[in-house]
Amino acid sequence: MNEIKKNLIEIKNVKKVFKKDIQQDLLVLENVNFNLREGEIVALLGRSGSGKSTLLRVIAGLIESSAGQVLFRGQPVTEPAQGISMVFQHFALMPWLTVLQNVELGLEAIGVPRKERRQRALKAIDTIGLDGFESAFPKELSGGMRQRVGIARALVVNPDVLLMDEPFSALDVLTADNLRNDLLDLWQQEENKNNSILLVTHNIEEAIFLADRVIVFDSNPGTVRSILKVDISHPRDDTSPEFRSLVNRIYKLMTSVKGKEETEAISVIDLGYRFPDAGVSELLGLAEMLADEETDKSNLAYIADELALDIDDLLSLTEVLDILHFAKQADGEIILTEAGKQFAEADILQRKKIFAAHLLMYVPLVKLIHRVLYENANHRESKRYFIGELEDYLSNEDAGRVLRVVIEWGRYAELFAYDDNSGELNLENPE
Ligand SMILES: Nc1ncnc2c1ncn2[C@@H]1O[C@H](COP(=O)(O)OP(=O)(O)O)[C@@H](O)[C@H]1O
Ligand SMILES: [Mg+2]
Repeated sequence: MNEIKKNLIEIKNVKKVFKKDIQQDLLVLENVNFNLREGEIVALLGRSGSGKSTLLRVIAGLIESSAGQVLFRGQPVTEPAQGISMVFQHFALMPWLTVLQNVELGLEAIGVPRKERRQRALKAIDTIGLDGFESAFPKELSGGMRQRVGIARALVVNPDVLLMDEPFSALDVLTADNLRNDLLDLWQQEENKNNSILLVTHNIEEAIFLADRVIVFDSNPGTVRSILKVDISHPRDDTSPEFRSLVNRIYKLMTSVKGKEETEAISVIDLGYRFPDAGVSELLGLAEMLADEETDKSNLAYIADELALDIDDLLSLTEVLDILHFAKQADGEIILTEAGKQFAEADILQRKKIFAAHLLMYVPLVKLIHRVLYENANHRESKRYFIGELEDYLSNEDAGRVLRVVIEWGRYAELFAYDDNSGELNLENPE
């Protein structure tokens, strides 16, 4: 018996452009096409900034797409629809409401009468393992328990489609494992047989552990790169050869370059480039590992493992090595450039010099900071000033983060440092 599963959600040519300012638009999603069928768990896997949350918001009817459309049971989604629920990464609970009241919120919104509300909320709380916590407030709960409340609130309306935006990424490893297993158990129950989950994640193993299909998402703009079926029976063992081989395949997909345009795009980064968090010691660790003859450069899963990193961290590091012209990526392999080899093999002083030279050459923000500090009479400038410069391109939060990352690099390269007391950056070696 091979019953044909209906499409619950159809995403057709979805495009999303954010207006940055009058002159500049930000194209976040382009030509996104895929379906979510009845009873299916689909994982949408992509790097941070690739537009995953934006896509979920479009599907949930929280924001409008710029072109294309989303259909739910054949009907265009233009506002939050009954039958679609969302779980957020950071719980999004109301701090002044109890667990029970938080869960009831979802029902209040769709006009369920008080008595039924209470009953259904209690049942959802029970199902998701929160029994006994009904009258607790969010601040009294651990991260894992808070996320359980978030999930209970989404489930209480009996949604056909559950949208989950990195629901486990703010949790510690063990708690996340537990919650994933509980979610699977719940989804394998008869009453949920035809319900579907679209789960956004940047964790390859999580995607393979949970999903029937994994959609690998591309960045700049976000679009579907490939769709892979996960034909491994539950419960899935993440150490089994078939699991590992799928992990490797997806790693390669996520690191291989789309086309030449993309590599070039990276080398013309501007002041507003959103650098990922890549610490100097991690960058060095990776460069050293790549310089080692023994390392299999195509086995990214192994490299990540050796450096105790997850995919997102490893990809951040390779991206920065790429920007600094220390490494190139091709077909799932990372290869050091000549300069990268020198960097990895030099002694500490030489290393700092090479790093400084590449920062000044390839990172416009470093060049700007260096120039301003050099030109100021006392070789100092407030951090505020640089944040202001960056805010033409980035949100306040991103500007602060990017500046923090770049200050760490500058300090290692002995170009400039930051004095927390005065809130000023200063030149390290003014002569
Ligand atoms: N409301 C918004 N206005 C302007 N830009 C936005 C908005 N929301 C997201 N972006 C931008 O869209 C891009 C994709 O963001 P997002 O969907 O959050 O990615 P992801 O969830 O994959 O990390 C980012 O560059 C982000 O800064
Ligand atoms: Mg997101």
